[in-house]
Amino acid sequence: MDALESLLAIDPSAPVPAVQKALADPVNRHLLDYVTEDPFGAHVFPGNEIGYAPEKFLADLDAQLADSAPIHLWSYIPTCAYRCRFCQYPVVLVKGEPEVADTKAAQWVDRNIREARLWLAKVPNLAKAPIGEFNVFGGTPSLLPADAIRRLLDFYRENFAFGPDTKIRFEGDPSTFTREKLELLAELGCTKLSSGVQSFDDHVLELCGREHTSAMCADFVRNAQKLGFEWVSIDLMYGLLDQSVDSVRRDLDVVLELAPTAVVCTKLHLKSYSDTRTGVAGVQPAAWQLPDYRDRMAGRGHHWPTLGEQYQMREILTEGLRGNGYTEWPTMYFARGGQPEKWKAIMVDQDKQEAEVAIGLGGSSSCRASEAITDVHWQRYSEAVEAGRIPLGSATRFSERAQEARAVKMALTTLRPLDDALHRRRFGRSLFDEPWLSRFSALASRGLADVDPGRGTITLTPDGEVLVEAIINTELA
Ligand SMILES: C[S@@+](CC[C@H](N)C(=O)[O-])C[C@H]1O[C@@H](n2cnc3c(N)ncnc32)[C@H](O)[C@@H]1O
Ligand code: SF4
Repeated sequence: MDALESLLAIDPSAPVPAVQKALADPVNRHLLDYVTEDPFGAHVFPGNEIGYAPEKFLADLDAQLADSAPIHLWSYIPTCAYRCRFCQYPVVLVKGEPEVADTKAAQWVDRNIREARLWLAKVPNLAKAPIGEFNVFGGTPSLLPADAIRRLLDFYRENFAFGPDTKIRFEGDPSTFTREKLELLAELGCTKLSSGVQSFDDHVLELCGREHTSAMCADFVRNAQKLGFEWVSIDLMYGLLDQSVDSVRRDLDVVLELAPTAVVCTKLHLKSYSDTRTGVAGVQPAAWQLPDYRDRMAGRGHHWPTLGEQYQMREILTEGLRGNGYTEWPTMYFARGGQPEKWKAIMVDQDKQEAEVAIGLGGSSSCRASEAITDVHWQRYSEAVEAGRIPLGSATRFSERAQEARAVKMALTTLRPLDDALHRRRFGRSLFDEPWLSRFSALASRGLADVDPGRGTITLTPDGEVLVEAIINTELA
C-alpha cells in the first residue's frame, strides 16, 4: 500500500482525521513521506557540523554551565528484562536467576557512577550547575535491586547541585515497579514516576513482546497514587500491531478513569533514529523494523494499522485528553492542570533551552553550541569507562545560524506561540525577517501556521501541531 492509500484507509467507526486533508494535499507530499515511516523527530536536535571533537563539546558545556539556570540531568540505566519488538533504544538484557540478574543490573549502576565521576572531573562546572530535574531513565531502571537504587540516588544527590526545587524521577515498566520498589523510591525523595504502559489491551501487549498485563499497568498507577507520588506518568503508543481504533478508545477510557498526572502518547516510530540522529538507537534494530518480520506477521493475519487509522487513534487520544483537562506541552506530552513536562520544558521552551547532561549508554547531551551522544555499543562503552574516558561516541556543532534554527525548532515543538521579541533578544533578528518569514509564510499558506506580526507571534494551527515533527525536520532543517 502506498503512503496516500494508507492515509486514506480509515476505520469507518471513527471520523476522518482532521489532518488527512493537509497530508493528502500534493503540496505537503514531503510531510506525508516523512510521517509514513518516521524516526523520533523531537528528541535530539543534531548540529549541522558533524565530526566535532567530543572534547570540544565538553569544553562548550563547561563554559555554558559556569552560569546556568537549572538544567536537566539524567542517568540512563540500559537494563531490561525483555526486549520489546518495537524498541530500538540501546538496551542490555538481564535475565536469569534473581542473584545473577541483580548482580548484572547492579554493574550498570557501578558503570554509571564511574562515568558520572569522569564527567565531574572533565566538566568542573557540572558539580555546581543547579539541577532542575534529575531523571533515571532506561531501559528499565525499576528492575535494579534496592541497594543499587539507593546507591545510585545517593551518589547523584551528594555529587550534583540538587536543591529544594530539584525533582527526582524514576522510570520503569509496570512489572518491576513493585510496591516495595515504590516505597523505596518515595523514601529516597523521588516524587515523579514514569512507566511504559503502551496499551491497556493484553493482546496488543503480547504482540509487542511486553511481559506484563494491562491489569499490572493499572495497579502501578493506583499504587503510585496511593503512595502519594506527585507525578505519575504513563507512556502510550498508537499504531501498534493489531491495535484498533476501538482498542485506543478503550485505552482512553481506562486512562481517564485512572487519572494519571501525565500521559505520553507516541506514534509507533520505525525508521532508524540513527539515520537522522533525531533520537538514539542501539546497535540492534527492533524486530518490527525488519520488513520480513512485518510481512510475516501480516501473512499470519495480523494487522498493521494504516496511516489513516494511526491519525484516527491520535485524534481520539488528543481530543479525549484535552477535553478532560490535559494540556499537550510539548508535543506528545499531556499533563493535567496545564503544566509542561518539566525536564522537556528545560530543554525546549523558548525562554529556557538550557543544557542537558545524560550519563549512561546512549545518553544524549547538549548545550547551545554543540551536542554529543554517548556510545551505544555496550562493550566499547564499558571499556572506555574502565579506561577512565567519558565514552562519548560522536558530537556535532551548531554554527551560529544553526543555533538559531535549533532554538526555533525546539520552541515549535512546545506547541506554544513563538515570541518574536524573545527571539530578537537572543539572536538579534526578527522571525518576521528573512529567512524566517518565507518559511513561516509557506507554512501559513498551507494552513499549518498563523503568522501575526501585530502580536509578534507565530503559532502552529491544529494541523501544524499534529505535523510538528515532520515540519521541523523537513522544512526547518
Ligand atoms: C525507552 S522506553 C523506557 C520505558 C520502560 N523501559 C518501559 O518500556 O516500560 C520509553 C518509551 O519509549 C516509547 N518507545 C519505545 N520505542 C518506541 C518506538 N519505536 N516508537 C514509539 N515509541 C517508542 C515507549 O512508549 C516506551 O515506554
Ligand atoms: S520499551 Fe522499555 S522495556 Fe521494552 S525494550 Fe525498550 S526500554 Fe526495554
